[in-house]
Amino acid sequence: MTTHRSVVAGVGHFLPERVVPNQEFESFLDTSDQWIRERTGIEERRFAADGETTSDLAIQACKAALADAGLGPADIDLVVLATSTPDNTFPSTATRIQAELGMEEGFAFDIQAVCAGFIYALANADALLNVGLARRALVVGAETFSRILDMSDRGTCILFGDGAGAVVLESTKSNGAASECGILSVDVRSDGRFRDILFVDGGVSKTGTVGQLRMDGREVFRHAVEKLTSTAKTALQEANLTGAEVDWIVPHQANLRIIRSTMKRLGIPEEKAVITLGKHGNTSAASIPMALSEGKSAGRIRKGDIVLLEAIGGGLAWGTVILRW
Ligand code: UT7
Repeated sequence: MTTHRSVVAGVGHFLPERVVPNQEFESFLDTSDQWIRERTGIEERRFAADGETTSDLAIQACKAALADAGLGPADIDLVVLATSTPDNTFPSTATRIQAELGMEEGFAFDIQAVCAGFIYALANADALLNVGLARRALVVGAETFSRILDMSDRGTCILFGDGAGAVVLESTKSNGAASECGILSVDVRSDGRFRDILFVDGGVSKTGTVGQLRMDGREVFRHAVEKLTSTAKTALQEANLTGAEVDWIVPHQANLRIIRSTMKRLGIPEEKAVITLGKHGNTSAASIPMALSEGKSAGRIRKGDIVLLEAIGGGLAWGTVILRW
């Protein structure tokens, strides 16, 4: 039986220039480099320059992913951007990426699932390729979270950073065998009953302002470990795989303790995680594609590897994608 499979043909990322080490927060907050390292695993993050937008970062990541795939903008007919920090309320930031890349065909749109955004974007792009609405997609996660941080709230502002990552996702014919490359299983979930433990206190319709990020960190932490473990198990079962068969976990990079606890529950050793948290902080929807890009360029993720991506964020929204690289 001939069926469809979405294969990653290239990956790339881009970080803004300005490095913000933990020590910088010590000058205006009751915090310390030691507390941040020990409780989160974060050493530094990047902040976008004044005037540098989410799309500016995303465009550079897309160019890097296209170069890695050996393709040009004319080969792409879909752009899906996961972001919670769009350039404008509308049009979608994805349409600026489309225009700046010089694409005149296809279609582009944004997806908003906060830190789970890249998982949702991959799930949607995979489905669109599957039904034949597109052949090759740029699936992007890009954020400028520095713009929505309350710099007087030590429980949140020390966690987040800016950046962008992208993959080229290509529709290929498949005989359905698990040995073939591409996306093997997807699990996406949300539960709006928990939307007030991680949110932005502004918005177009509610306040007419941009607002700032608010979080009950302890509660998010508790849900994160439990829900990430459960979604990863569901996706493994759907792909007919065991934890032992996973070569790499590329998790959303929110807190090293969350990553460690989840991996322990899944029975997957920590050496199998690609961790970029120390240098990137939490870049929300950008964290997974940036880690994929670093994992590949470091020669760790190789063709044929089983890679498990998982994330959770505001909504709560969470999910897993398992693919053979
Ligand atoms: O990407 C979306 C998903 N987001 C997440 O997954 C984030 C999940 N949550 C977390 O990562 C952690 O909950 C935090 C890193 C945010 C906080 O760590 P925690 O171990 O849960 O700390 P806590 O909130 O229980 O606070 C412990 C103490 C408190 O002081 P008291 O009440 O015990 O006196 C906080 O006020 O640590 C204090 N604290 C800080 N101290 C120094 C909180 N933030 C800081 C800080 N520096 N930056």
